[in-house]
Amino acid sequence: MNILILGGGGREHTFCWKLSQSTQQPNLFIAPGNAGTAQLGTNLSINPTDLEAVATAATTHAIDLIVVGPEAPLVAGIHDHIASHPTLSHIPVIGPKQEAAQLEGSKAYAKAFMERHNIPTAPYKQFTAQTLSDGLTYLETIPAPYVLKADGLAAGKGVLIIHELEEAKAALTDMLANKKFGAASEQVVIEGFLDGIELSCFVLTDGNSHVTFPFAKDYKRIGEGDTGLNTGGMGAVSPVPFNDAAFQQKIHDRIITPTMEGLKKDQLDFVGFVFIGLIRVGDDPFVIEYNVRMGDPETQVVLPRIENDMVALLTATGEKRLHEVELNISAQAAATVVGVAGGYPEAYGKGDVITGISSDGLIFHAGTTTANGNVVTNGGRVLASTGFGADVHEALTEAYANLSNVTFEGMYFRKDLGFDL
Ligand code: AMP
Ligand code: GLY
Repeated sequence: MNILILGGGGREHTFCWKLSQSTQQPNLFIAPGNAGTAQLGTNLSINPTDLEAVATAATTHAIDLIVVGPEAPLVAGIHDHIASHPTLSHIPVIGPKQEAAQLEGSKAYAKAFMERHNIPTAPYKQFTAQTLSDGLTYLETIPAPYVLKADGLAAGKGVLIIHELEEAKAALTDMLANKKFGAASEQVVIEGFLDGIELSCFVLTDGNSHVTFPFAKDYKRIGEGDTGLNTGGMGAVSPVPFNDAAFQQKIHDRIITPTMEGLKKDQLDFVGFVFIGLIRVGDDPFVIEYNVRMGDPETQVVLPRIENDMVALLTATGEKRLHEVELNISAQAAATVVGVAGGYPEAYGKGDVITGISSDGLIFHAGTTTANGNVVTNGGRVLASTGFGADVHEALTEAYANLSNVTFEGMYFRKDLGFDL
């Protein structure tokens, strides 16, 4: 069996690691991959949003299954492209079609979906350059802090949380009139601020049935104590200690079930991962956002806790047989700590030699490549060390211990993960 994985981060290395444990012993192709995926399969030097290049690779390598890691190829329509291709339409794609990918690709689309299906989320209104003055007036009517979201994909930078009214007005003007985030901010969603603690929920669906993966919590800020700039993710833990049985039941009843039914009612034929970004406010869950893929770095703690054969699980999904599958989740906790390049998430260097990866621990590569026989840094988030234990604190201890063997110039990681749990 030949599997093509799109993407090249820690999430994709984790998928490769898990898929390669399958009894089916698949051949893995990764576009573009990293130095870690190269050890488990064949990296293809392809941009995953180049739909025609992906189709050509699927033909060349006789691909049987495509697993899409990041959102960009989905929003660009990779699933539709393969499904309507004269010779590739039989290949299952794990990831939704372009219309359903709007759940992540457009905040306004996601908010309308939640409103239509009665899914708890912050109240909102949306504005364009034409309705900017209405937006400015609206800001005067709501309490601070103000949450401004560029409608489209903005590489994780499109959400602004602002405490001062005048600053919020200036930011709204910047986004709509000056297109601060380009086309992504032609439309802006202003929504109510939710004060609580966040967690990530992952549902794998074949369009008919679904399985709920282990919950996780990620750490987005660069600084200890959740301070400083937002990043792609500095670490994650699973399970989530504050996600007790009663709270999980609310998530299931109020959010997962209506989301799955909403996808069906809207005839979105969603095949793939629905990543529901949740926030616990008091005792109640609310949706912060939908993503149409697995989380990174949450994947690095979620997949290792799944005991099922990942090839069988994803094949069943692609063939719409997910109702036949029972998901088995390990009782062990997992934690991952991300090592980043000095300076990240602002300017950082590349090409620094990484040592110590080959020692015992489970290290997932993210921004790495090979040069002159060495593994070198090639991105801001360089790698993630995943550890296990009876609870998340034990798992963190193991993750930190294994990470301590790894070195590269300017390496930084947060030492306080789990501080809030
Ligand atoms: P998003 O891209 O929608 O996930 O937003 C990025 C981050 O902004 C989230 O992970 C939250 O930390 C924060 N955020 C987004 N929406 C809200 C909200 N309504 N209330 C409070 N925080 C929010
Ligand atoms: N860890 C959050 C994300 O993948 O978007």
